[in-house]
Amino acid sequence: MKFSVRTLFIILSTISLFSSCSVDSDDTLSIVKQHVARVGDIHSYANLDQIRTKHLHLDLDVNFSNKTIYGVARHQMERLKDTDTAIFDIKYLDIQKVTTGKDKEKDADYVIGKNDSILGAPLMIAIDSTVKYINIYYKTTDKTEALDWLDPELTEGKKYPFLYSQGESILTRSWIPIQGSPSNRITYSADVKVPKEFLAIMSAQNPQKKNDTGMYHFEMNQPIPAYLIAIAVGNIDYKSLGSNCGVYSEPELLDACANELEDLPKMIHAAENLFGKYQWEQYDVIVLPYSFPFGGMENPRLTFANPTLITGDKSLVTVIAHELAHSWSGNLVTNASWEDFWLNEGFTVYLENRIMESIYGKDVADIHTVIEFQELQRTLEHIDLDDTRLKLNLEGRNPDDAMTDVAYIKGAYFLKTLENEVGRSKFDKFLNSYFAHFSFKTLSTEDFVNYLEKNLLKPNHVRFNVEEWIYGENIPSNCIKITSKRLEKVEKLAKDVGQGKIEKLKNYQLKDLVTQEWMSFIRKLPKDISAKTMKAIDDKLNFKNCGNSEIMCEWYIVAVKRGYTLAQPNIEKFLNKTGRMKYLEPIYESLYTSQYPGDKELALKIYQEAKKNYHPVARIGVESILK
Ligand code: BES
Ligand code: ZN
Repeated sequence: MKFSVRTLFIILSTISLFSSCSVDSDDTLSIVKQHVARVGDIHSYANLDQIRTKHLHLDLDVNFSNKTIYGVARHQMERLKDTDTAIFDIKYLDIQKVTTGKDKEKDADYVIGKNDSILGAPLMIAIDSTVKYINIYYKTTDKTEALDWLDPELTEGKKYPFLYSQGESILTRSWIPIQGSPSNRITYSADVKVPKEFLAIMSAQNPQKKNDTGMYHFEMNQPIPAYLIAIAVGNIDYKSLGSNCGVYSEPELLDACANELEDLPKMIHAAENLFGKYQWEQYDVIVLPYSFPFGGMENPRLTFANPTLITGDKSLVTVIAHELAHSWSGNLVTNASWEDFWLNEGFTVYLENRIMESIYGKDVADIHTVIEFQELQRTLEHIDLDDTRLKLNLEGRNPDDAMTDVAYIKGAYFLKTLENEVGRSKFDKFLNSYFAHFSFKTLSTEDFVNYLEKNLLKPNHVRFNVEEWIYGENIPSNCIKITSKRLEKVEKLAKDVGQGKIEKLKNYQLKDLVTQEWMSFIRKLPKDISAKTMKAIDDKLNFKNCGNSEIMCEWYIVAVKRGYTLAQPNIEKFLNKTGRMKYLEPIYESLYTSQYPGDKELALKIYQEAKKNYHPVARIGVESILK
């Protein structure tokens, strides 16, 4: 038998005599499913077709001693249809009470549906037709996946703990009860209380120094999707890098970060010239501790960045160009569901490359594009054919599991191929109109296809295999071929050196080539290279301990494959230090599947020790490899 939510409330409150309750029933699921079908996002339980959050105010108390945030999420709702229920997403949150009203709050009945290991649970709140404000009192738990609570020894200063959040893709619901679909945009404000020694910053208007009350107020006045709400709390300082940009980090790293990111004003300028005005007023970066699981995360006004980007030679700033580019693709124009993820990332890789080209020249930009193509090819070798389509089918799946180079690189190559077909000036005009038309909106792949057809292809009488690119498998045959003379030279060098002609490296030092050239060099070393030659290369260039994480990661993967055991202590040190999933996953994978005795055990041993340094999502990722 199927019940309505109202009947469920009545039945449950009669049996339990409480106004709230958790149910393990499939009825809640079937109710929720009707909305899911109408909203088009299978990763949220929210009945966004009926009622949606317009503005969220957060009252947060950050408690480091028990690693808990005590919060009240005050939702200001907008009703689209008549309904007696508002459904929010929650995951591993401890809900204490729910009230309605602004100044005079009244307790509300609510039901928590069955927990799903990917989606969490629906929080269903009974409302009458007058309700505008819903206040959810809650605390986070030790299972909260979005939050990384770091003990002092995992920070640069080793004196104070640190906290940061990671919302994308569907983790915000594990630290804030929210309608967790990217298809809804909300404004937010927050009052956050932290211990006095700490600074709190969010993806919002931010303070630039600590005050002595430990109370901070935040406003994000532009509407954003739930996954972009973010917070960081720690012993954090700020340094300005220009009139509207700067960098936050622990004091010990601040000067190095400021030097590395010196080109930020130039990047913003280049991006505005290419894609239109920057719409978020301020652009800051926070360089987080090493456990941060990504290279960067595009939280609006405040990109979160991995400290491995701070190499001293700006060689990895492309990640910052990428996150900045999300200020247009992703943050201003957002994928409506995670099945349309390529609209966020494919566009962003394309834009990132355009920024790089305009600052560092076409040579450097092409090197990146070619390297990316190599990565895409490697990825295509081992993923399911279904996941090689741009438009994904994520039924029953965790969106994070299908977020591969396909969205990023096939997506970017699709746009590059289109650009090449219609010519840059027309394509740029189209891009600018796309960002203007969809700004502060969300769109699906189908919305994009319509817009493309109407505004670029038809007016210019261009025929293009859009459907094949988006819905088809692998890489269409008209894909643009990018080559790089500089990389070809390096590949030849790799071949010679790999055959033992080590003297060819005589005139090279690490600083003579850019990071991506060395990466290509390592990738193109012959499969039968001996451990002895590996050692000779290391003696000359010291890859195993060079401090550049991209190069070290490539080197370690080859080292494991070729039985070059001298690198093992460095691998162990590296895995203990960084929590960036892009590095952890391939290195653990190569150890775990290695043909050499002892490697598998080594992977397990290192993980036991190192996992305390990883963010919860990184642990999930590594554990799926070491299963
Ligand atoms: N938005 C992503 C990070 C992300 C994706 C987090 C999916 C959670 C789920 C970010 O912009 C990103 O792509 N980072 C890359 C940067 C690279 C492509 C330059 C990274 O971290 O490696
Ligand atoms: Zn990205």
